[in-house]
Amino acid sequence: MKATAKAHTNIALIKYWGKRNEQLILPTNSSLSLTLDGFYTTTTVDFQENLTEDMFTLNDTPETGEIFRRVTTFLDLVRRLAGKEQLYANVKSMNQVPTAAGLASSASGFAALAAASTKAIGLELTDAELSRLTRQGSGSSSRSIYGGFAQWEMGKEEDGSDSYAIPIAPQEHWDIRMAAVVLSSKMKKISSREGMRRTVETSPFYDGWLQSIPADLDGIKKAIQAKDFTRVGEIAEANCLKMHATSLGAKPPFTYWLDATVRVMHQVQEMREQGIPAYFTIDAGPNVKVLYLPEHEKAVEKILREIPGVTDVILSKPGPGVTYL
Ligand code: PMV
Repeated sequence: MKATAKAHTNIALIKYWGKRNEQLILPTNSSLSLTLDGFYTTTTVDFQENLTEDMFTLNDTPETGEIFRRVTTFLDLVRRLAGKEQLYANVKSMNQVPTAAGLASSASGFAALAAASTKAIGLELTDAELSRLTRQGSGSSSRSIYGGFAQWEMGKEEDGSDSYAIPIAPQEHWDIRMAAVVLSSKMKKISSREGMRRTVETSPFYDGWLQSIPADLDGIKKAIQAKDFTRVGEIAEANCLKMHATSLGAKPPFTYWLDATVRVMHQVQEMREQGIPAYFTIDAGPNVKVLYLPEHEKAVEKILREIPGVTDVILSKPGPGVTYL
């Protein structure tokens, strides 16, 4: 009972920021992302009758702590769904997400785990069912089931049955590019979970964030269909700034930005003044992702690499959805 699956990470252009149910991972807003080809996780799940507990190795290192706990808790969901509660697995994951890239590997990690484990245990799920399941491991992983652009529908039901991602445009739709700009950082990290909780509970800006989502989603979907780069970039950059503004209003306030983060943001805006269309987005950390078009790749990379505090720039194209190996 063995299967291997590969899933790519995704970066949200309209961010998921806030939970209405922490246990089931149900969001307070719908979100939309681009799956990237450069960063992925390959996971093999082998259910064996003779095992008395799960085993998990990540990049050839056995894991026992919090990461292991999240994996076994997720496998419990899969076992329950299959009616095989006493069947344990040997799980091996390889992360092709450069460790220093500061890119969350939880999206590709849980999507690959969900795909490999359900296949190995004999479940046949639709993409929507797989997305709904993997959502309970990591919210953003619900979008990594699909290639290209995907939208995670927040849903309304208390049980989460209508909270899963749907495809918006496939990988081949549009050759838009994204650069991951890596910064040196020793800052103590506030997890996305803690950051969301604090802003939902205390930020007076949180309502404004929520109110702005429907128009952002509607606008960006039209712009993606029309391949209107300026419109996509403007909406994504503004949406990211609104998300980060909620954290400044939280109690106690916090920000994910470093001085180098702000330098990159300014430089991207400066590129536009020089006639190079580029836009930024930032997740729950200091690193910046920059959207651009293929014809500007050389210029964008050169400018980004010269910014003080930038340690690496990793370029990516749109990536595929989950595949089985
Ligand atoms: O799914 P998580 O817990 O990795 O949260 C992701 C949150 C953001 O990256 C900030 C936004 C998003 O939609 O991916």
